[in-house]
Amino acid sequence: MTARLEHKTALVTGAARGQGAAAARRFVAEGARVVLADVLDEEGKALAAELGDAARYQHLDVSSEDDWAAAVAGMDRLDVLVNNAGVLHFSPLADTKLADYQRVININQVGTFLGMRAAVPLMRTAGGGSIVNLSSVEGLAAAPLLTAYTASKFAIRGMTKVAAVELGQYGIRVNSVHPGMIDTDMIKEAAGGVELDLNRIARRVALRRAGRADEIADLVVFLASDESSYCTGAEFVADGGATATHALNVT
Ligand SMILES: NC(=O)c1ccc[n+]([C@@H]2O[C@H](COP(=O)([O-])OP(=O)(O)OC[C@H]3O[C@@H](n4cnc5c(N)ncnc54)[C@H](O)[C@@H]3O)[C@@H](O)[C@H]2O)c1
Repeated sequence: MTARLEHKTALVTGAARGQGAAAARRFVAEGARVVLADVLDEEGKALAAELGDAARYQHLDVSSEDDWAAAVAGMDRLDVLVNNAGVLHFSPLADTKLADYQRVININQVGTFLGMRAAVPLMRTAGGGSIVNLSSVEGLAAAPLLTAYTASKFAIRGMTKVAAVELGQYGIRVNSVHPGMIDTDMIKEAAGGVELDLNRIARRVALRRAGRADEIADLVVFLASDESSYCTGAEFVADGGATATHALNVT
């Protein structure tokens, strides 16, 4: 059986840990060459070293135009871009500081825009490509305390569709992924480092548990591969059933 991502070169942002790291691992296992990009240099370099010759680490702050220019300048081709880097910030709307709002928007939303823009010339040269943008269930519906995060994830969902409509003519597909609660460090870190039982918090979703990073990586591999050749501008939800119901659910 041939590997599902053979002959493809991918760049995954936020790949030092969590869902980005899980995607990078699966990409290498499926035959891709992978650039792991992050601001956590030690963790990113260690994972790239562990993954071997098919992987290398690139320091890339996704909110920096210069970092994107440097990252793509070092690449001879790019078939898959996963805009995965992201941050979460909890605060009530009325107490949200402008600096916190802008930090979340700059990383999640501006980072995704800059990434897509940087990828287009290389993908056009390659004759096509796949861009996978990590949105969230917060790109589909609201959650309290998440004004900046929700705004950024709705924006990613929207710009994914614009990019898909513009870039389809070049064979470039663009889709958004909407995970529910996934067991990574992101939520715990945003909650101030406290130990949280995510499975307990997620007990009301249909599957009665939080998701795992490797479960999202499986979906990202599908979208990166030619198996999704007719999918573009679409929303791929992997949330254990969280958005299948609404707040009036009586159970
Ligand atoms: N964990 C969840 O419940 C959940 C749910 C839905 C969507 N998501 C989204 O999935 C993506 C991955 O999150 P995760 O759960 O793996 O969290 P994580 O915190 O484990 O990983 C996020 C990664 O992004 C990196 N990063 C942060 N700022 C960066 C920057 N400026 N430039 C480059 N890299 C940067 C971090 O260093 C980290 O490696 C994010 O976009 C997140 O919003 C997460």
